[in-house]
Amino acid sequence: MSEAAPSPAPVAVLGAGLLGAAMAARLGEQGHDVRLWNRSPERAAQAADGADGVRAVADLAEAVDGAAVVLTVLRDGDAVADVAVRFLPLLGGGDGPVWVQASTVGPRAAGELRAQADAAGAAFLDAPVSGSTDPARRGALTWLVAGDAAVLDRARPVLDDLGQRVQHVGGAEEASALKLVVNAWMTGATAVMADALALAERLGTDPGALREVLDGGPLGMPYALGKAAMMTSGEYPAGFPAELALKDLDLAADGGALPGALEPVRERLRAVADGGRGREDVAVLAEAPAAQE
Ligand SMILES: NC(=O)c1ccc[n+]([C@@H]2O[C@H](COP(=O)([O-])OP(=O)(O)OC[C@H]3O[C@@H](n4cnc5c(N)ncnc54)[C@H](OP(=O)(O)O)[C@@H]3O)[C@@H](O)[C@H]2O)c1
Repeated sequence: MSEAAPSPAPVAVLGAGLLGAAMAARLGEQGHDVRLWNRSPERAAQAADGADGVRAVADLAEAVDGAAVVLTVLRDGDAVADVAVRFLPLLGGGDGPVWVQASTVGPRAAGELRAQADAAGAAFLDAPVSGSTDPARRGALTWLVAGDAAVLDRARPVLDDLGQRVQHVGGAEEASALKLVVNAWMTGATAVMADALALAERLGTDPGALREVLDGGPLGMPYALGKAAMMTSGEYPAGFPAELALKDLDLAADGGALPGALEPVRERLRAVADGGRGREDVAVLAEAPAAQE
């Protein structure tokens, strides 16, 4: 008789928003025992419904109890700090789980969260991701990680099931800084694609022909082509909501102005959010006034 494989230690996913729900579903599918917690419990219950291996847990203490990894996937640094105050005392110091902080919070907040973890004796990784809900569901995210290599090794089984790549970029908050740069590039590219499509329309060229020229060639960034398809259809179901893209440019600006073309992009995103379309995908930039002038 063959012995059953040992069950993996539970993973606590704290945050059942777009990204947290996708990560939980992927981990459950890969055989992890996932406890999914969310501030509003109904969202966790909805995300766990029908997802293999994912259990919605309303009690934070129950979510982290005995976990090998605690993954935070929350809106911003303030949200993570509020939740961390509640779970850190429950982790049991150095022998406890690794806290993988995957939300995009910027380097300043990441440093504060690391200090919070250190004070509680908890192992911490600054670990935002590049990629969105669809790559998360396919295990194709890129992890940007800063922290101790031995701590990273402990978290590997979870990171590897969610991502195709782990880029270890430093020992402090380097990953959170790099993540803001990656998102500035991504959001800037989205805005320029919106402008190129607006130009095509102005010049009386078929926008579909532009996509055809780019597709498969060195100029054909698959991400931007995906956004172009949304812009052409005029439908913007959120993979990455515009309001989060704005949050990340605000974090990157850190109270100042962004370099070059990025500052006007931030203003356009603010107009999108002020116009009540912040929960639509960042591709909704195509509907912002500057793209239509
Ligand atoms: N979506 C993406 O493609 C993507 C890609 C890379 C990185 N990220 C980053 O990952 C993080 C999560 O993104 P998301 O797309 O899942 O966002 P989302 O759909 O807007 O969900 C936000 C999550 O944060 C929670 N939250 C907000 N404020 C809170 C507070 N004060 N206390 C406790 N929980 C709070 C929400 O809980 P409620 O449901 O109770 O409001 C929800 O679980 C963000 O930092 C985002 O920038 C997202």
